[in-house]
Amino acid sequence: MTPVGIDAVEIWSGKLKLDLPNTFAPEKGDDPAKYTKGLGLTDSSFPDVYEDIVTMAANAAKRLMDREGLTPADVGRIDVATESAFDHSKPVSTYVAGCLESVYDGDFTHANKGERKFACVAGTQAIDDAYNWIRAGRNRGRAALVITTDTALYARGDPGEATQGAGAVAMLVDEDPSIVELSTAQGYGSKDETDFLKPNQQFPSVDGKRSMQVYLSRMREALEDYESVAGDLELTEFRYAPFHTPFPGMVRKAALLAYRHVIRDTDHETALAEDIGRQPREPDFEDREAYEAAIRDYMDELKTTEPYQHWYDDTVEPTLGLSRSVGNWYTSSVHVARVSALRDAIARDDALVGDTLLVASYGSGAQAEIHAETVCEGWRTGIEALDIDAQLDARYDLSWSEYEDVHDVHEYDKDLGRDVEAFTVPDGEFVFTGWGRMNERTYEYVE
Ligand code: COA
Repeated sequence: MTPVGIDAVEIWSGKLKLDLPNTFAPEKGDDPAKYTKGLGLTDSSFPDVYEDIVTMAANAAKRLMDREGLTPADVGRIDVATESAFDHSKPVSTYVAGCLESVYDGDFTHANKGERKFACVAGTQAIDDAYNWIRAGRNRGRAALVITTDTALYARGDPGEATQGAGAVAMLVDEDPSIVELSTAQGYGSKDETDFLKPNQQFPSVDGKRSMQVYLSRMREALEDYESVAGDLELTEFRYAPFHTPFPGMVRKAALLAYRHVIRDTDHETALAEDIGRQPREPDFEDREAYEAAIRDYMDELKTTEPYQHWYDDTVEPTLGLSRSVGNWYTSSVHVARVSALRDAIARDDALVGDTLLVASYGSGAQAEIHAETVCEGWRTGIEALDIDAQLDARYDLSWSEYEDVHDVHEYDKDLGRDVEAFTVPDGEFVFTGWGRMNERTYEYVE
């Protein structure tokens, strides 16, 4: 079977930043370590007043098309995954196609366009759709453009306000990919949950603590489901494990849970038993409460052991590099984690070709998905081409009152966009210009 996977990737960060320990924490009266150590975040990316989910998506896609030398005729499908859409009918992908058609010869008239929604897991689902479309032989030699884009803003004062972010990732899904080949095997954990939702409202209703529990439960189910098709996981099997990263502290919890699960009934568990005992088994306890307390104690011990720390430092920690400086990008976040991992391999000068990644996506509401990816020959060139460090360094550092203004600008109901001056100057990119006669959003390319 011809391999199918991610052939190219581009990242576009919102052009402003909110410094969490130095600007956000003092205003909230919090210890900065709550953000840097507890949540694991230093900054959030924010969109400037002329940026939104369309501009960030179109800018990432244009970069990708330019770099890969693509024309619209090479693209048979444009899928945008977002949970920040501003229209219940017209998909963001049509706006993005319109932007791109304004700067390229040719058009996307014969490309299938859509919008995927399932909170943060939608980007992975859109990759899946593209994979299936290619595998079914319906692509006529063309590739799919999958774009994840979000302005992940919370209501002012919501606990989630510390984990905001804004950015887009464009990925080209194609045969004979250069970055990673996707596994056919997948695992799912999916249940009707009300942990995070936006019922006809822009900012989410969130039960933050519950959303963390739901994340962990669905991940465990997805892992079990993945093992049922791919066989029991071996710890050394995967070079990196990029997880959905709403904030790095969440991944720390998920990684510990995954490790406990994977070592159960293996030599690793036996080796650790000398120091911390064996894992608690439910039948050995009188009730669920006692069992859960024992599990918590075991986890506290497990995370201090040398084998766990070694595995975490090598396999998980390197996936969090970008997330720490950009915050939660919702649909993009697991794809940013993959890029962080590959950038770590460049820094270590690892060959990586043929190595595998365990990719764990999650969306509130709630669903987790787990699959494997094999790193391809061209990964290094594709990842070295990214200029994300320069983008992050160039972000405008917002003061508190500027942050308050920017948050208002991006609150659709307040419609303050025209009253706040941009903080940065657009240069060779798509910008938001206002509203048209049917209340559609309008865009132009600025040279
Ligand atoms: N030094 C070090 N760590 C500190 C600290 C300090 N001074 N103060 C707090 N912390 C730690 C806490 O112990 C906690 O870590 P733990 O969970 O490992 O114990 C972490 O920082 C966060 O503190 P907490 O008090 O729980 O924060 P919060 O109640 O303000 O909100 C969320 C945390 C995640 C609930 C909130 O950001 C949220 O609602 N986020 C949006 C939903 C989300 O992203 N869910 C994830 C699943 S998708």
